[in-house]
Order: sequence, then structure tokens, then C-alpha cells
Amino acid sequence: MKIEQHALSFDELDEIARPAPDIVEFEEVANAMVSRRGFLGGSAAVGAGAFVMGSTALSASNALAAGTEQSRLAFKMVKANALDTITVPEGYKWEVLASWGDPLFSNAPAFDAVTGGTGASQELAFGDHNDGMAFFSKGGKQIMAINNEYTNGSTLHANRADGMPATADDVRKNKAAHGVSIVEVSQRGGHWGIVQDSPYNRRITADTEMDITGPARGHKWMQTSADPKGLVAKGTWNNCGNGQTPWGTYLTCEENFNGYFTAKDKNYSMPEAFKRYGLSTEGRYNWALGDERFDLVKEPNEPNRFGYIVEIDPLDPTSRPKKRTALGRFKHENAELTIASNGHVVVYLGDDERGEFLYRFVSKYKYLAGGNNRDLLEDGTLYAAKFHDNNRGEWIALTPKTTGMTDAEIAIHTRMAASKVGATTMDRPEWVAANPNKVEVFCALTNNKNRGVKPNAGGDATPPGGPNPRVKNNFGQIVRWVPMNADHTSGEFEWNLFVLAGNPAVYDDANAGSQNINQDNMFNSPDGLKFDSKGLLWIQTDGNYSNENGFQGQGNNQMLVGDPETGEIRRFLVGPKECEITGAAWNEERTTMFISVQHPGEKGNSHWPNGGQSVPRSSVVAISREDGAVIG
Ligand code: FEO
Ligand code: CA
Ligand code: CA
Repeated sequence: MKIEQHALSFDELDEIARPAPDIVEFEEVANAMVSRRGFLGGSAAVGAGAFVMGSTALSASNALAAGTEQSRLAFKMVKANALDTITVPEGYKWEVLASWGDPLFSNAPAFDAVTGGTGASQELAFGDHNDGMAFFSKGGKQIMAINNEYTNGSTLHANRADGMPATADDVRKNKAAHGVSIVEVSQRGGHWGIVQDSPYNRRITADTEMDITGPARGHKWMQTSADPKGLVAKGTWNNCGNGQTPWGTYLTCEENFNGYFTAKDKNYSMPEAFKRYGLSTEGRYNWALGDERFDLVKEPNEPNRFGYIVEIDPLDPTSRPKKRTALGRFKHENAELTIASNGHVVVYLGDDERGEFLYRFVSKYKYLAGGNNRDLLEDGTLYAAKFHDNNRGEWIALTPKTTGMTDAEIAIHTRMAASKVGATTMDRPEWVAANPNKVEVFCALTNNKNRGVKPNAGGDATPPGGPNPRVKNNFGQIVRWVPMNADHTSGEFEWNLFVLAGNPAVYDDANAGSQNINQDNMFNSPDGLKFDSKGLLWIQTDGNYSNENGFQGQGNNQMLVGDPETGEIRRFLVGPKECEITGAAWNEERTTMFISVQHPGEKGNSHWPNGGQSVPRSSVVAISREDGAVIG
């Protein structure tokens, strides 16, 4: 099948490349890995049973509508709009900190708006499509690690007829536009910017060597001709959300790693294990043109080395990144790390695909403040969430005993392991955020237009129910769970829905959303979630910006703030045309908030941030108050 590459979002590509997930028996997957023969899946579906609107799931959290006298949200809500700029509340201002192609070093050429640069220039410049980010400080220096998730050929390769890499150097440039940008930043003359030539400035790309750690290290499925022992992976890409550890490292999360591989040989038969992760023979990037390891025929194990959490020390530019396979392989959104009351490290992880799962990692060893915590993410237990309709839920351990798989097999084929234990299929788990002031956790379930509408031979694998109550869910919701005994390592939790997004201007049924949604604060497709130190939940959207039909009046993608205590939600920011808003970090004083504006003009209709007829550029934006006070 021919895929129109650059016009597609990753969601749309997945729709073509990957059918609705069915339950897959691992034994057969293991056989298929050897024989390359296909097989039929099919097993018990989970979570059947109707969800009744108005149950305690909804009423528990939505006591309050916007505009309460006691609001903790200290700003005036901005209105939805479809402008090609950023809108922030009265008394706030914004500026661009860094854009795709900005040189990190003075010996690099300035951004070339006509060609988008070369492989050599991109390797010395800020990457494209910035997403998750974190802020670090050391000895008075301010350092940021920022993901560069993916690229759109129509802007990166605007000099190529179809927006596809056409030469080996185009592939080099494309790979260098992915990964992570580590930059020192500073505020000079009242303006934020990158400190060029800082010793901390570093690009991590699809070609950076990194150690494979944890259960998958050395496994036969990790071995390639360039790395026959399966110990060293080359690069990271599609780095979506992020995490940050109390021991000073950055976690970058590999999401849609599948779209970079291709197989041109007509006789190639895609293994079922690869289909479960959405690999296709067409791919999206044509990297095989410049690097044979992206040819599935030549290097059949290469995809098993991607889809992980990678730990990076941004304060040591010589350090090697580490792939933490103990945290599983799937389309990772972010990695929300918290220390449980008993000292174990808990990392909450979403797998962003329709009908996939929500996960939790619990470290084997305990965090010790001031101790050596560097390898706590190397060893631990992965769990998948099972939600029950009675507002209770449980974490099911993925172990050799519960799955019949080895630890390495669980690490590499995590989706199959979670299917085997009957985890709850979710409406695309995006970011997870843990309240720093209370033991409770939130996850954005962005949308799922296939919920309840794709029956298969064994019955519908994704029936509505629990925290995924709506059939054809176009608007998304945010689920909250509270671990039992205020213990993040507890096997059980209680859950409710913090918000069901919707459009009460158009609908008066379930698509109107929950009670804390009204015509002034409505939105669709929550994606980014991040708590600030005050305990307010920042909500970022990556959804339908058509501003028509069911989305009439919702405008461009945006950022809102929610108060978990009251349920109140206010819109704080509206982004430019055809972007998503994602990623969030604050400076130490919380006087500046940094966010990502990703893929403005992805359909060709934006000139943000430079205006005129300029090429649109993904950028990091710094937001502050005009009076310099703390944000929020
Ligand atoms: Fe990269 Fe699920 O967003
Ligand atoms: Ca996202
Ligand atoms: Ca998204």
C-alpha cells in the first residue's frame, strides 16, 4: 500500500499500518519470531459490561463548575480562538526560547529557511518537533533536556518534491532532527535564550550509542550484525514525553518507533510480533535509504531495540545514555516517577495506542536520598492496570508466573504480556502525572474513535466501560486513581474520572462532557499532563483543531489548568494554527514556564513563529508574568 507520508499524523499512519489490537498468544508470537509465519490471535476480551453515565465514576469528582469564589487559579481565562499566534492571559507574556534549526554552537551555520539545513548543520542545531522537557540546575547553570519527537517532511525537506529524504544526507539530517537536545539556557536582558557553546550543549540523535540495560540486555532478539551481543543500541527516536529522577537524570520515552522501518522485498512476511507494534513495510521516513539497519529484511531484530525508556545524565556531557528495558517496550508516552512511602521508585507509564494499556514499574531496590541511585531503573517489576466498573482497580504483575514468558520476553514483548493477564484496554493513555502534594495520579486518555465499534471474532476487544465509558470517544477524558493506603506500591486503587471532555455547545448527551466542562472552558483530546509544585494540573491538548461540527468553538490546541481539589478547569493558553501544545517545565523559582509548540502548520497553514510567509518551526516557548511573580 502506498502511504501519503508527510500529510499524515502518526495517529493517521497507525490507522493504516496497524489494525485494532487483538489479544495475541505469546507462544505463537515466539514461534513466529523464528519461523516468520503468521498466526491467528484471539482470546478472552476483558472488562465487558455497560457503563452507566451518572454513576459515582462521574459524580465523585465534579462537584464544582468554573468560576468559584475560592478558585486557586490566579488568572483570567482566555477564550478559544483559531489565530496563528499564542494567546496567554492578561498580565502574562511569552517569547520563543529555541526553534528547530537554531545552532547550539557558534561554528554551526544559521538556520537555512529554504533548505532546512544539511545533515552536518542539523547535528549541531536544535532538533525538530520538540515535545517533553525538563529543567535542571547545577552550580548556577540552568540546563534543559528537550525531546525532539519526529519530523514532517513538508517542512524539514521542503526542498524535496514529495517531502521525503532523497539522498543519504537527507537521511542523516532527518535522523539528526530526532532525539534529544540538551542546552544551557539563561535569561539576559530579560529574555530567555540558548547559551551557545556551553559545554552542556549536546545532541543525542538516532545515531548516538547507548547501553542496553535490564532484562532484555544480550537477549537473542536484541542481537544484530552490528551488535552481535545485543548490548549497545544505536540511537533513540520518536521521543515523546519525558520523566525526571530525583537523582538528577532525564528520562526520554520512545513512542512511535515503528514508522522508521521498511521492507522493500515483496516476499517479506511481517511477523505478528511486529504487527502488534504497528510496523509496516512502507514506514514513513525512508531511513533505509541511508542506513541498512532500517531494512527489516537485512536487520530483522533492529525494531526490538526501540520502544524503551532511555535514561540520560544531562549534567555529564560525556555520559552514555542507558536504555532501561525493565520499564517495558511499547509506545511510551511519558515516565512519571515518584518515590513511594516505603522508598521504592514507582514509574507510571502509558502506551499511547487505541486499546493498549497503562503500566506501573516498581523498583526492586529503594531510593536513598544522597545515596547511589543511578541504576534503580535497571531492576524491578512491571505491572499492568485492570480497572473494574465499581471504581476499584488493581495492578497485575507481569512476571514469568503470570505470563508464562521470561523476564526478557516480557521486556521486549510487553504488550503481549499485558494482554495475557487481562489488563484493561484504554482510550490511548498519554501523559501520566502524580500530584506532588497528595498520593493520587492522573492519566490523559486522549480519545478512541474505535472504542466499542470494532468487533472481532472473539467479541469486541474494547467494549466501553470503567474509565473508558464512551463508544466512539472523540473528546477524551482524564482518569484519576488513588492508591490504597496512600502507597504507590499498593496492588489496589480507587479511581474516578476527573473530567470527560466534550462539547456542550453542540451535544446534550455523553459528548457534552462532565459537569466541570462548559462552553467557556471546553476542549478535546487531552494529552500533556504535568503538575506544578503548587499542586495544579496543567492540561495540554493534541486534538481536532477544525473548529467545526462537533469541535465547533474549541479553536486551536491549547493549555488549561485544573484544580484536582475542586474539579475547576480554566484555559490558560491557545496555540497557533495546526500545532499541539505539549511538554512543560518551570525554572527553579517557578517564574517562567516552558512549553513546546509542536508542528505548527502541519497541514500547511501556519507561519508561526516568524510570521509573513516564513516556514513554520516547532519551538520552545517561555511564559512569564509581566510583574515577574510566580506562575499559576
Ligand atoms: Fe507523542 Fe502520544 O504523543
Ligand atoms: Ca503526546
Ligand atoms: Ca496525542
